[in-house]
Amino acid sequence: MRSVWTKKTKEKSEEEKEVNSNKGQIHEYLPFFFGKLTGRLIVKAKIDADLCIGCALCVQTCPEVFKMEGDKAVVSVSVVPADVEGTCRQAADECPVTAIIIE
Ligand code: F3S
Repeated sequence: MRSVWTKKTKEKSEEEKEVNSNKGQIHEYLPFFFGKLTGRLIVKAKIDADLCIGCALCVQTCPEVFKMEGDKAVVSVSVVPADVEGTCRQAADECPVTAIIIE
């Protein structure tokens, strides 16, 4: 009976060690440090292609982030530059079909 208890306790402590070994790794803290260093969180823009009617208002408002591809607008940058974040949000607010998502 005692050996079963000891074995289970040993297995449990090894599981805990494995879980704890993943805690505190650098990737958990990168967003925190990145935000601290830059003073802002990463802002990304997306366009719902199903909603976009191709009016090009977003391209006129924020050409640094949006461009036309055929009859739909697309996002041309992976991260919205800090200096155009305001106009990017304005473009999202003004989109007539709210196809622009800012995250
Ligand atoms: Fe499309 Fe809205 Fe731009 S409809 S073209 S995403 S302003």
